[in-house]
Parts: sequence; structure tokens; C-alpha cells
Amino acid sequence: MAAASEPFRLLVLPGDGVGPEVIGQTLRIVRWFETELGREIAVTQGLAGGGALDAHGVPITDATVAQAQRSDAVLFGAVGGERWDGQPIHLRPEAGLLRLRKDLDLFANLRPAVCYPELVGASTLRPEFVEGLDILIIRELTAGVYFGEPRGVQDLGGGQQRAFDTQAYTTAEVERVMRTAFELARGRRGRVCSVDKANVMQTGAFWRAIATRIGADYPDVELIHMYADNCAMQLMRRPRQFDVVVTDNLFGDILSDAAAMLTGSLGLLPSASLGSGRKALYEPVHGSAPDIAGRGLANPLAGILSFGMCLRYSMDDPEAADRLERAVRQALAAGARTADIAQGGPSVSTEAMTDAVLRALDAPAGDWCSPCSIC
Ligand code: NAD
Ligand code: IPM
Ligand code: MN
Repeated sequence: MAAASEPFRLLVLPGDGVGPEVIGQTLRIVRWFETELGREIAVTQGLAGGGALDAHGVPITDATVAQAQRSDAVLFGAVGGERWDGQPIHLRPEAGLLRLRKDLDLFANLRPAVCYPELVGASTLRPEFVEGLDILIIRELTAGVYFGEPRGVQDLGGGQQRAFDTQAYTTAEVERVMRTAFELARGRRGRVCSVDKANVMQTGAFWRAIATRIGADYPDVELIHMYADNCAMQLMRRPRQFDVVVTDNLFGDILSDAAAMLTGSLGLLPSASLGSGRKALYEPVHGSAPDIAGRGLANPLAGILSFGMCLRYSMDDPEAADRLERAVRQALAAGARTADIAQGGPSVSTEAMTDAVLRALDAPAGDWCSPCSIC
């Protein structure tokens, strides 16, 4: 990590669709903390996804990947859109993000799903099921079926083809993400649920055996195993049973979108992608949301909270991260709602939602919503 006197080097890749909208607003929060913490945050902007394809013919250039390697952290928006859907799979906008994750070796993707008291009514589950919800999904991010070889489409003749991907994990790939899960569970409620399809897949049985072996090194942490299909159901049935959920790349992708709705909206879920060194990437869990892009409708909180995770994990400032999370809750307590969490009531724009967070950051502690259970 850079010493406190050195600038923190942040590579910002806003991407496509709502990416630039939410990251543009997140940068206002970045600037607020730069002033507040008295530490320069040196922002470099680059292209990724459809924008990079249009400009350079690839979804991310070698130069941008090299820039990411040299940075203290990457703040990523979202990529993709119908315009580029016809591209071969390795030249789709999404491939740029996958390359970044792989080349930076960011194997642990932390996706917290927290239901804020101010938003219990926004969840599609009844309040009594989601009140107090606080789950950390840890998604393995650099292996599994996303990267396994071989993959392709084979000609079978007679007008028939066969498409195939490969789900594969090595011992080390499972071990390291498992250790991350157990370590993080120690700072939480001490429970890990490892999710797999050990009843059907070789990789599932392999995953489960390694989880059990690594779990023995953490006798203070409770380990349970769950099949992925059951986990999807249990998330809807009794979501508060979960503390840390650790799972593979594909299951983690799917289960985190499902968990998002427990909190009120996909537009609320941040993520941190971490490796074994200091490199890290922060991005909302959501995509480029083409259905609402360009209209100031997107919820910026997933992006803003992703920067909060950067404060916590890359800038080593948990107090600043807590402060930002408090400010988000204060903005919600004051009634600010983008359309996705407005429950049919009045809603504000992406920018006005960010204004509300900045107002809360500027307010002296305790002044915002007195009497207040947040600050
Ligand atoms: P999506 O996450 O973009 O959108 C799903 C739904 O959630 C949409 O109705 C959208 O309006 C809503 N939503 C998403 N973000 C929101 C926000 N901030 N505020 C309010 N509502 C929000 O998923 P999709 O529609 O399946 O995919 C669209 C494109 O995004 C595809 O090209 C996909 O590959 C890409 N994608 C990219 C990422 C990423 O870059 N990390 C993640 C997921 C999907
Ligand atoms: C996510 C996204 C990505 C994924 C896509 C855009 C490559 O859905 O980060 O959740 O599948 O990992
Ligand atoms: Mn996803």
C-alpha cells in the first residue's frame, strides 16, 4: 500500500450504460473523502467494455490492464449492452471485466447483502424475514466454469453442433477462497455456509472436501454445507440463517443477484474483489441496466458503497467506511429514494440521491435525524 503521504492511485473504469452515471456520482463521494482525509486520491480514467471495443476493437487494452496493475485499486462501473451482444464471446464487453479479474488474480469477491432498517419495506420479502439481514457472499472469482478450458462450439455435421464449457477447480483455488471465508467469518458471527453441487458434480464433491479440511483449521467457526439449489430456496425462506456464504464463480453470481432483492434492490449491492496482495477492484454487483440507462434513474448506492469497501479494504480506513455507510443510511432515513426503492412513492434522480449522501456526510454527527439510531 502507498504510505499515507503518497497519493492513492485509483483507476476508474466507468464502462457502459448506467456505469458512467453511477461512477460519476461515486466520484463526488471520492472527492469528499479526499478532502476529509487529507489524502490525495489520484484518479485516472480509462475505457472498458463496449467503449473500449468501439475505440480499440478489444473490451480492454493491454495498456489499461497494465495501468490497473500499477494502481492501488480499480473502481469499475458496469459493462455490456445490446449493441455488442453479437460479438464472439471473447470480444464481448464482459470479457474485459473477466480479463481484469483474472490478470489481477482477484480470487475473492465479497458481496455483502445488508438490509438497512430504513428499507425493510422495499424488499420483496415481508419485513419479518429481512429485518436485520446481514449476509456476506464470497464468490470465487478467477476460476470455475467462467475460465475452464476447453470451451467452444464443435461441428457435429448434419446441421448439428455441440457447445461446451468446462467447470474446473484446483486444490489451491478452493483453499484460498475458503480461507478468506473463514477469516472473514471470525470478524462476524462465526458461521460459514459452503455452497456446492456435491451431489452431482465432481467439482462440487472436491469443493466440499476441501471446505471440510480447511474448516478443521478454524474450530471456532461453524461450517455447514448446502447444495446450491437448496441455498437459493433457503435465501427466500429464512435468509437470516446465513452469515458468510462461500461458493464458486457461477453459483456466487446467481445467488448474489437473488440476495440483492432481500435488501430492496440490485442497485444497493456493492462488491470488493480481492487477491492475496494489495491489488483490488471495487464494483457494484449490478450490470449496465440498459432499460434505465441515460435517464438519471439508476441507484448510485451500490457504486458509492463499493467505494466504501475501497476505504475499508484498500485504504485501510474502517472508520471512514463506517462513516460512509452511516451517511447512506441517513440519506435513506431522510427519505431519499431512487425509483427502484421508492415502492411507488416519490423518487429522486441518481444525482439527487448522491446529494443526500453528501448532505449527510457534511452534517455534524447527530444533527441529521435527531433522535437518531444511526449516528
Ligand atoms: P442488470 O444488472 O444490468 O439489470 C437487471 C435489472 O436491475 C434491470 O431491470 C435494471 O434496471 C436493474 N438495475 C440494475 N442496476 C440498477 C441500479 N443501479 N439502479 C436501479 N436499477 C438497477 O442486468 P442485465 O439486464 O441482465 O444485464 C444488462 C447488461 O449488463 C448485460 O450486457 C450484462 O452482461 C451486463 N452486466 C454487467 C455487469 C458488470 O459489468 N459487472 C454485471 C451484470 C450484468
Ligand atoms: C457480475 C456480472 C459479470 C459476471 C459479467 C458481466 C461478466 O454478472 O459481476 O455479477 O458474470 O461475473
Ligand atoms: Mn452477475
